[in-house]
Amino acid sequence: MSKPLLTVLTFIAGAVCGVGATYLALPHTAASQVPPMAAAPKEAARPAAPGDTRISFAVTQDERAHIQGQMLTFLTDLQTLNMALADEDRDLIREIGTAQANRRDPNGIGQTLRVKAPAGFRQINQSLRGDFAALAEAADTAPVGELQERLSLVMSKCVACHGTYTVILAAPE
Ligand code: HEC
Repeated sequence: MSKPLLTVLTFIAGAVCGVGATYLALPHTAASQVPPMAAAPKEAARPAAPGDTRISFAVTQDERAHIQGQMLTFLTDLQTLNMALADEDRDLIREIGTAQANRRDPNGIGQTLRVKAPAGFRQINQSLRGDFAALAEAADTAPVGELQERLSLVMSKCVACHGTYTVILAAPE
């Protein structure tokens, strides 16, 4: 396995182990570039469910709907990418990777979410974007095995975030 891939895998292992490890594994320049966090909402300390030790932060109904819409697109794209890999449809792999790497937020909700979300949450999201970009870049030339490895890297960011973070609905004002 190539060195950059190994480095990223090490990062993921850190992310899954928890936030402390995540922080250590992350490039600190990235941490200093992110905007300062808004005052943490009270709900942030509350577990999403009894026994759930993941870090939670409070979101509005609209923000949750935005996340869920985004997630459904992720899941759909992963399924399509798996199919594209089996068919060796390199154009489709490049298209999806590029679209996910450059995805923009048309309604601005992602903007308010970025302010609320913990730094580690934003960083995993950015890292996922980078993995999609790398997949797109390799799509035309890399052996299928490498593309599979890159897709696996993409998915490890899904795992890293879901294992560490969750959201709860903010109490209505
Ligand atoms: C940076 C964090 C983060 C990343 C990365 C991430 N997710 Fe999620 N995902 C979440 C959160 C938070 C929720 C919970 C939303 C809620 O509670 O309604 C979620 C929920 C989901 C759901 C359930 C959606 C629903 O309708 O209830 C699916 C499916 C999902 N994610 C798939 C993925 C896939 C596939 C990837 C990787 C390509 C991914 N996620 C990457 C944070 C993330």
